[in-house]
Amino acid sequence: MPDFPPLKNDLILRVARGESTTRTPVWMMRQAGRYLPEYQEVRSEHEFFDVVGTPELAAEVTIQPIDRFDLDAAIIFSDILVIPQALGLEVRMVKGKGPHFPDPLRSPSDMSRLTESPDVDEELGHVYDALTLTRKELDGRVPLIGFSGAPWTLMAYMIEGGGSKNYKRARAWLYEAPDAAHSLLQQTTDVIVDYLIGQVRAGAQMLQVFDSWAGLFGPQTFRTFALPYLKQIAERVKKECPDVPLVVFAKGAHYALEDLVETDYEVIGLDWTMDPKAARLVVGERATLQGNLDPCTLYGDAETIRRAVQDMLAGFGSHRHIANLGHGMHPDHDPEHARIFVDSVHEVSEQMRGV
Ligand code: CP3
Repeated sequence: MPDFPPLKNDLILRVARGESTTRTPVWMMRQAGRYLPEYQEVRSEHEFFDVVGTPELAAEVTIQPIDRFDLDAAIIFSDILVIPQALGLEVRMVKGKGPHFPDPLRSPSDMSRLTESPDVDEELGHVYDALTLTRKELDGRVPLIGFSGAPWTLMAYMIEGGGSKNYKRARAWLYEAPDAAHSLLQQTTDVIVDYLIGQVRAGAQMLQVFDSWAGLFGPQTFRTFALPYLKQIAERVKKECPDVPLVVFAKGAHYALEDLVETDYEVIGLDWTMDPKAARLVVGERATLQGNLDPCTLYGDAETIRRAVQDMLAGFGSHRHIANLGHGMHPDHDPEHARIFVDSVHEVSEQMRGV
């Protein structure tokens, strides 16, 4: 493990572990990205995957929001789609359209095109280098979060070849070819486990697994095709990295809270469609909850944002909560409104504790 500067703000790690703090920590999904003019400037000269693949650029972009706002964590600038790339699939980022796979998996026989046991250190070493460099450049200001896509969400992209309205092709596999689906999910899980452990060795201090398309499932399909792999990831990563908090963000899986509490993830991310109070009633103090302001709240004025933050913090309570949006920042968000969100979380959460 490289020698890193001491951490000056460990709020988020303490809250993840269930300790009390004098304020609620806050970060924003997609906090580095197109709504920041300084990111746009980097992107005007470099392709998206070149930024991801160049540690100096990835570190610079990761730290941009930390320089601008009083955030309590940084998240490494990368993408969930680096895993399909490591499995041998080509992925491009198309302007105005999003990710595009020129040659997606169209049928189970296409799985023979995937690299069977990719050398993750070799394929994704650039992300590890970016983590190590970012951790040094952060100089202990805030913890650095590593991440991965979840098996199902990655499977959905590998089959659809990009964004899709209802992910019908990927969902069809679950019924037409369940054995192939399980085999693809397991193959992806194995890569994810290596990748997450590698990120910790490179400097990640907390890990988040993004299951962005969990909401396409119902409770039964979630338990069959998502939960066992999410569980396996947490168990295997915990064995190697027992002290690193794990976050699971299964967007739309409102029915899965009780299942997720029983896993080894100590933090459960919620999207904005869930009621914080209701979630707390189910979870109690058994896990830390993360979320969940509707990102569109940031289109409102300062007063609107502040009121929404008050409601959110009151709903979650002052213990075991990491404030975040319920999904990512949008490209047309005003950075000043992000600032109002971050500052309001700190102010209101201190007031709630009588600080
Ligand atoms: O600041 C951060 O959160 C860290 C970086 C990060 C990115 N993608 C950068 C990015 C993270 C954590 C992700 C995760 C990611 N990528 C997810 C899970 C989170 C979620 O949103 O549900 C998903 C589903 C992807 C796949 C992906 N990558 C999509 C759908 C897109 C297009 C999105 C869009 O709004 O156009 C991307 C591209 C992407 N990833 C961008 C960024 C900053 C924009 C690309 C650009 O600069 O042109």
